Amino acid sequence: MSLRTVPTTPFSGQKPGTSGLRKQVKVFQQPHYLENFVQSIFDVLEGSAGQTLVVGGDGRYYNREAIQILLKMAAANGIGQVLVGQGGILSTPAVSCIIRKYGAYGGIILSASHNPGGPEGDFGIKYNIANGGPAPEKVTEAIYARTQTLDRYRILEAPDVDLDRLGEQNLGSLKVRIIDPVTDYRELMERLFDFDLIRDYLASGFRMAFDAMHAVTGPYARAIFQGSLGAPEGSVLNGQPLPDFGGGHPDPNLVYAHELVELLFGENGPDFGAASDGDGDRNMILGRKFYVTPSDSLAILAANAQRVPGYRDGLAGIARSMPTSQAADRVAAKLGIPCYETPTGWKFFGNLLDAGKATLCGEESFGTGSNHVREKDGLWAVLFWLNILAVRRQSVQQIVQEHWQTYGRNVYSRHDYEGIDAVAAQELMENLRLSLPSLVGQSWGSQTVEYADDFSYTDPVDGSTSSKQGIRIGFVNGSRIVYRLSGTGTQGATLRVYLERFEPDPAKHGLDPQVALAEHIQLADQLAQIRARTGRQQPDVIT
Ligand code: G6P
Ligand code: ZN
Repeated sequence: MSLRTVPTTPFSGQKPGTSGLRKQVKVFQQPHYLENFVQSIFDVLEGSAGQTLVVGGDGRYYNREAIQILLKMAAANGIGQVLVGQGGILSTPAVSCIIRKYGAYGGIILSASHNPGGPEGDFGIKYNIANGGPAPEKVTEAIYARTQTLDRYRILEAPDVDLDRLGEQNLGSLKVRIIDPVTDYRELMERLFDFDLIRDYLASGFRMAFDAMHAVTGPYARAIFQGSLGAPEGSVLNGQPLPDFGGGHPDPNLVYAHELVELLFGENGPDFGAASDGDGDRNMILGRKFYVTPSDSLAILAANAQRVPGYRDGLAGIARSMPTSQAADRVAAKLGIPCYETPTGWKFFGNLLDAGKATLCGEESFGTGSNHVREKDGLWAVLFWLNILAVRRQSVQQIVQEHWQTYGRNVYSRHDYEGIDAVAAQELMENLRLSLPSLVGQSWGSQTVEYADDFSYTDPVDGSTSSKQGIRIGFVNGSRIVYRLSGTGTQGATLRVYLERFEPDPAKHGLDPQVALAEHIQLADQLAQIRARTGRQQPDVIT
């Protein structure tokens, strides 16, 4: 074994996006590419010598190779110990849980979340800090700055670590501990939810299906749903993690989780269905022939939180990302607690959770979570729903409809235009931005613009500001159209258009959102010239 210092030159574009550095596998496989980024992480960490890091990934193509490189570099950079999930597997929320439980210095997650995997797919790497959450912008900016000046990296020349053998191995002076990926996470879930009650409900004939989409949640879901909770074999679909996710797109939405959707919308389907994404932090919730929009899911979890052991004492506050619907705000108002509006990206919830200002957080992008970890958590959301269903013994649809009757319905939809020309997308946003001042006060049909701006956020805890976080056009009746460019794609640009309208009238709650929002959909195109500028006649994905 020998320590090597390898001369290198910077790569351009190693800038972490919404959630870490995400690129095509091919890009990561270039000599020195991953090494440069990892060294930049180690270079900006202060006082990491002798400390513990947690490392794991979603099992996608290149996961094992990347972990070997990372371990050898950790050894060469003076890290004391690394906890690695067996087989290189750890879901994103499990990494967060383990960092917190063992008081680790931080963690490194290998994942490109919901992006496709395989040699032609994507790979990603993300650094999490000691609170278990994604590194804040000042850290990711420092890492990026370091990538631009890097001229060497350090690595230990050594044989590979056996990632499948539980227990301790030495890599130079580094201790590598291979841990079971599920145990710590399951223990945390058992403390938050009433497993006995859910087990009884499942035993009484209530039927669930969970689609792991051949991604990281398979082992967790099998252990928790089929193991601890006694759901029958087969309740977990696609439970084997595969390097290419079986050729699928591990994003739990109505388009990509079609196997689950067909099951739930077919005849004699299960009572409850859910899916998670590549790295296990997203969730989609379905009832029988019924889809729960993520924004409603957040509001419903908040409204029912006191029925669940981990949240029996009530919520300090709720936080949602700006494009998420305002359904949660209505629950917060009724509970008399604050509701915070943050930019898109889970990292913005970290300070609110650490400061005890928010207990539940959620995003329209199928992310829900709480102060139990510092990442959004797919299986946690599924267990939360199961716990509520086991307490209320009503169908998913009844629970959602009763919620709308109580609070009114924030009818909501997101339209995605994927892989459009990046320049055209920038121009569309720039043009819209320029038109904002002139929009205020203008009317189209029944809609009058009350405000039109580019969302900027000042963190109430540390005072940091983030600007240009999405264009909002708000109408006098409370409806909104929001435009954002995705920060997680790797090819071209993805335009997201978020549409929301409040409907107080229960007689109209059953309307298809695409019908209820027709006026806004048309206006969204007109204001931003979407069809003309992107050449697309309709969105690729509607959620
Ligand atoms: C990741 C982050 C989420 C965020 C989402 C936005 O999943 O963890 O917090 O909401 O990206 O993705 P987008 O593609 O819209 O930038
Ligand atoms: Zn994810």
